Amino acid sequence: MILPILHYPDKRLRTKAVAVPVVDDAIKTLVSDMFETMYEAPGIGLAATQVDHHIRLIVIDTSEDKSQPLCLINPEIIEKDGELEWDEGCLSVPNYYECVTRANHIKVKALNEKGEEFELEAEEILGVCIQHEIDHLDGILFVDHLSKLKQRRLLEKTRKAQK
Ligand code: NI
Repeated sequence: MILPILHYPDKRLRTKAVAVPVVDDAIKTLVSDMFETMYEAPGIGLAATQVDHHIRLIVIDTSEDKSQPLCLINPEIIEKDGELEWDEGCLSVPNYYECVTRANHIKVKALNEKGEEFELEAEEILGVCIQHEIDHLDGILFVDHLSKLKQRRLLEKTRKAQK
């Protein structure tokens, strides 16, 4: 099922998500709906926050041919180093792209869609995507990393477009 995606500046995007207590059938259904929603958009990452479910769950696929679905439940960055700049976009901020500075290399710990714990090291687009999606779970959007001037311009542009 395709889920509606919340758009900036919707206040619900500011909700801090809570941990998933148990990976049950309801969670598995949500994971499957989130993949469907992300692929249809199309996008390379989606956080539960963006579909108005305020639990710590993200789905990602940074491959060209949609062959590497990755689900992270209760993700935690346990190591990060280096810096890189990446031109980011977001399904909740349509048609807007800006450069954000992130860690270049991260190590993340999470549960998969079967509830099994795993660790993953990621760099470049995958690392950036994981950092971007975990931000969503904390109510943070990539635009929050930009200058106040850019944020004000984006807000004005968004308000005009919504009128
Ligand atoms: Ni996003």
